[in-house]
Amino acid sequence: MKQKFILLLLGILSIQNVCAASFDSEEAPQDFLIKLFHHSSLQEPTAEVIAEINAEFKRVGYIAAEGVPGFGDAYQHYLDVERQFAALPNEIKAKCIGPNYAARGYSEGVEVLNPQDTKPVADTYKGSLYAAVPDDSSNVWPDESLPELRNAYQEVAEILLNAGRKILPLVGFTHEHVKGLGRGLHYKSVPSGEEDGNPNWCGDHRDHGVFTCLCPEAFFKDGVAVPRPENSGLYIEGKPVGVSLEGALSRNIAFFQMGEVIELMTNGKVRATNHLVKKARDGSEHFALAVFVDPEGEVLIDLRTCPQEVREKYADRLTEEDFAREYVTFEEWNARSLAKYNPKELAPTTDK
Ligand SMILES: [Fe+2]
Repeated sequence: MKQKFILLLLGILSIQNVCAASFDSEEAPQDFLIKLFHHSSLQEPTAEVIAEINAEFKRVGYIAAEGVPGFGDAYQHYLDVERQFAALPNEIKAKCIGPNYAARGYSEGVEVLNPQDTKPVADTYKGSLYAAVPDDSSNVWPDESLPELRNAYQEVAEILLNAGRKILPLVGFTHEHVKGLGRGLHYKSVPSGEEDGNPNWCGDHRDHGVFTCLCPEAFFKDGVAVPRPENSGLYIEGKPVGVSLEGALSRNIAFFQMGEVIELMTNGKVRATNHLVKKARDGSEHFALAVFVDPEGEVLIDLRTCPQEVREKYADRLTEEDFAREYVTFEEWNARSLAKYNPKELAPTTDK
């Protein structure tokens, strides 16, 4: 009984312990600070923690969790190895391009995340390395050139996925069979004076899956870790997140973000929010890693009680026929989303 009381107390304290100073954010407006929960408070969450998490996923669609076991060391190791991958010659990276380039292996400059704009432009300075998490035979790794990458990537990705799995039931997502899809991101250094009409490394979008587990952004300039350059990096609904990498690594802080599927499944009870990554203009490069959590393809997204505002928000990928039969499968939703953001004309030529 006494132990339970202490756990309860720790849970409350961990929520109250959310403030600007604890988060090392120099730029985020006070009313837009990302709330920080302690990982332990997510293991056996109190009703108060559950309510608070849901409120945050409604407000900004994004939370942080401190104390994710092993996260900081694993992410640091991943960054060390991934930076070696990023430095490999293009022809070696091209060997990691697979036929399913939007979900496995390497790709670069193939995604258009602002297709609603009159002049859509691709994210040309963005490289991605996708992989199933945990590892399986569908993945494409640079095993000959950089054999350490497979394990470094999978180690941090599995830590994130396991932490994310604990959060999903708290917002009412209880499908047991979920899959992880990792995406290692390398936003390349932008040459000075370059102007391709795209101010972003990653254009404005919402994550189209269920849920995203995220590593903090890491900036490097001339091979040295640097603080986030001004006016660059991750912005959610126009507001900078601005978290320091050192703080996140030393305190094992990871991030979790709502995807569009949960917004649909919860009838808008939680919200997928628009976000983008602004280019740094000082020559810095930027690394991050995300793990998307998705259900099996045959899972139905129930549209029976979808409110009008949510219908309108997703009118680009939901049809009258979907609403008439009252569902869309995750597989259909995923395919339509990938088609929206990955125009055929930008598909890479594969070496396989
Ligand atoms: Fe995203």
